[in-house]
Amino acid sequence: MDRLQCVLLVLCFQNCWHLLQAVEQAALRFAVLADWGGIPLPPYYTPHEEAVAAEVDRLAQTEGVDFVLSLGDHFYFSGVKDVEDFRFKDTFERVFSQPSLLHIPWYLVGGNHDHRGNISAQMAYSDISDRWNYPGLYYDLQFNVPHTNVSVSILMIDTVVLCGNTYDEIQPSGPENLRAADHQWDWITSKLASSRSDYVVVAGHYPVWSIGNHGPTSCLVKKLRPLLKKYRVTAYLCGHDHNLQFIREDDGSSYVVSGSGMVSDINTRHRDSVPLTWQLYSSPVNHTVGGLAYFQVTEHQMTVSFMQIDGKCVYQAKLPTRTVYRDTL
Ligand SMILES: *[C@@H]1O[C@H](CO)[C@@H](O)[C@H](O)[C@H]1NC(C)=O
Ligand SMILES: *[C@@H]1O[C@H](CO)[C@@H](O)[C@H](O)[C@H]1NC(C)=O
Ligand SMILES: *[C@@H]1O[C@H](CO)[C@@H](O)[C@H](O)[C@H]1NC(C)=O
Repeated sequence: MDRLQCVLLVLCFQNCWHLLQAVEQAALRFAVLADWGGIPLPPYYTPHEEAVAAEVDRLAQTEGVDFVLSLGDHFYFSGVKDVEDFRFKDTFERVFSQPSLLHIPWYLVGGNHDHRGNISAQMAYSDISDRWNYPGLYYDLQFNVPHTNVSVSILMIDTVVLCGNTYDEIQPSGPENLRAADHQWDWITSKLASSRSDYVVVAGHYPVWSIGNHGPTSCLVKKLRPLLKKYRVTAYLCGHDHNLQFIREDDGSSYVVSGSGMVSDINTRHRDSVPLTWQLYSSPVNHTVGGLAYFQVTEHQMTVSFMQIDGKCVYQAKLPTRTVYRDTL
């Protein structure tokens, strides 16, 4: 490495580090990852997945991690067969095995690969594991920033039920069960309409916007994006494309892609499918490696930090509280 590269790396590291340290002590902290589901051959995990686990462990020991949001594709290529499937051990327990991680709750939603297998078995695993929480295809979570009344709602949604599975296509081709999809759309709408939380996050597997291999999901652009705007959702979080991205529309609506759980993909096939001025950061365009997204929520702001697997914070964004909008809701 030459001297200039070294100076630049140190600067980036220090910039982000400084911001992390500046965040107030009382914070709710969580990691967001997806697509960490290993491979369907021995050893059933990848070195990149191990490195992501090591990074969650490092964050848990240094900054703190209250919980993990896991946004689908937990077992490549066809989910699990039943609740006894060895993949729970080989792809999850043996990889995310650091002592600091054993008591951190995980909240999960299914991805297209999970739905190819037995999704009920993934939910049933909640009864076996102390940390695996998958109570239904979609559900909501409520948290408070410690020592404050600042509230955070997280809607965990199943975008495969909403939009259909992809099989070998780039785009899902519509819901397999229209009634189930409509039922979930009604649930999302009524949850968002009634939420008075300071921060509201919606999280699912497929992206609304993405510049990666799969790109934007037209079903979500058409039906979810207007709801995110109408109800001033703080951010939409997803996986599916195997990279890290931060996209912010001109009106402030924010999108986080964190799908580099088992590989870091440099594909930018859909770079032209998202307006250039909205593309604030992505691991392939900005020549960084994937990893995970790390959130810190304090009384006054939510910060998302994009962490490379080597522990470097490569991009940060601030997401404001919804309080200013409360009167208009
Ligand atoms: C799915 O997994 C559950 C829990 O292990 C099991 O009871 C059920 O029979 C499985 N379904 C199929 C179709 O194998
Ligand atoms: C939280 O709200 C309650 C009820 O309004 C209030 O009594 C309490 O002081 C608040 N706590 C903090 C830390 O703001
Ligand atoms: C990422 O790369 C794009 C295109 O070169 C550039 O406009 C943008 O400022 C970069 N973002 C960061 C955070 O470096």
